[in-house]
Amino acid sequence: MTNNIAPDDYKKFKDFLEKACGITLGEGKQYLIISRLTKLLRNEDFFSVSELLTAMELGRPQYLRDLVIDAMTTNETSWFRDRSPFEALVTDVFPLWDKEKKRQCKIWSAACSSGQEPYTISIALSEYKALTAATNLNSASIVATDISASMLQQAKQAEYDESIVGRGISSKRKQQFFRKNDGRWIVADDIRQRVSFKTQNLLSTYDSLGKFDIIFCRNVLIYFASQRKTDILNRMALALNPGGFLFLGASETVMGYSDAFEMRRSASGVYYRLKD
Ligand SMILES: C[S@@+](CC[C@H](N)C(=O)[O-])C[C@H]1O[C@@H](n2cnc3c(N)ncnc32)[C@H](O)[C@@H]1O
Repeated sequence: MTNNIAPDDYKKFKDFLEKACGITLGEGKQYLIISRLTKLLRNEDFFSVSELLTAMELGRPQYLRDLVIDAMTTNETSWFRDRSPFEALVTDVFPLWDKEKKRQCKIWSAACSSGQEPYTISIALSEYKALTAATNLNSASIVATDISASMLQQAKQAEYDESIVGRGISSKRKQQFFRKNDGRWIVADDIRQRVSFKTQNLLSTYDSLGKFDIIFCRNVLIYFASQRKTDILNRMALALNPGGFLFLGASETVMGYSDAFEMRRSASGVYYRLKD
């Protein structure tokens, strides 16, 4: 297997990736492509990235494109990641929802990776319900989506190793919201039952998902070019019900990309609300 990528192939690969999932590779990222694709090239019997590109151009099955996207996306995640969004749900958003809303609350975790984000939202909901006897959130539901088939498979399975659960789940929450089986931690049924999973490319239309009241789109926009961020944020604004909320990653913002949202401050961070 060769580790070289010719300039033309590098450009072709970059263009494919940007069009397929929005991820922009800067200059000189050949090493990243090689390190992410080595296993795939070996498993699928390709000698080089050039051979892989030819197979993709010749209309090899969709599965090859999916494998490449799977390999090239960054799936880093953890439970209660950055803490503040989940604290803001319990201290600000859910109480406001209770005061203002009557209908079922629909939440979208828009790049859910292996499931930690939607299950964390579900745990936050259960904790809020335990604190608040009368809540309109009893029938709240969470739709979790990702482009990566392998991440969605792991997320649906809802089983995690000790080391993965240890990244953000306290022992108290572990006992309360998981059960142990064969050395693996399994997300409790009441936490799982609120969450459903679907494949969704953020570049494609969101029409089939319906409308949401809260969207989590965290730690994915950073990989996209400015125009893509603008497009995604404006379409997420259209996917929100009036007064809906948006949570982004710690290094992401709507500023300079969309003026559909106003920034709100919670005790520990910021989130956004759809403007009237
Ligand atoms: C770094 S993870 C973030 C996971 C989680 N939101 C968090 O903050 O911990 C980024 C996720 O975005 C997904 N992703 C990348 N490009 C995407 C696209 N175009 N559409 C949907 N999901 C995408 C990846 O598969 C990956 O699971």
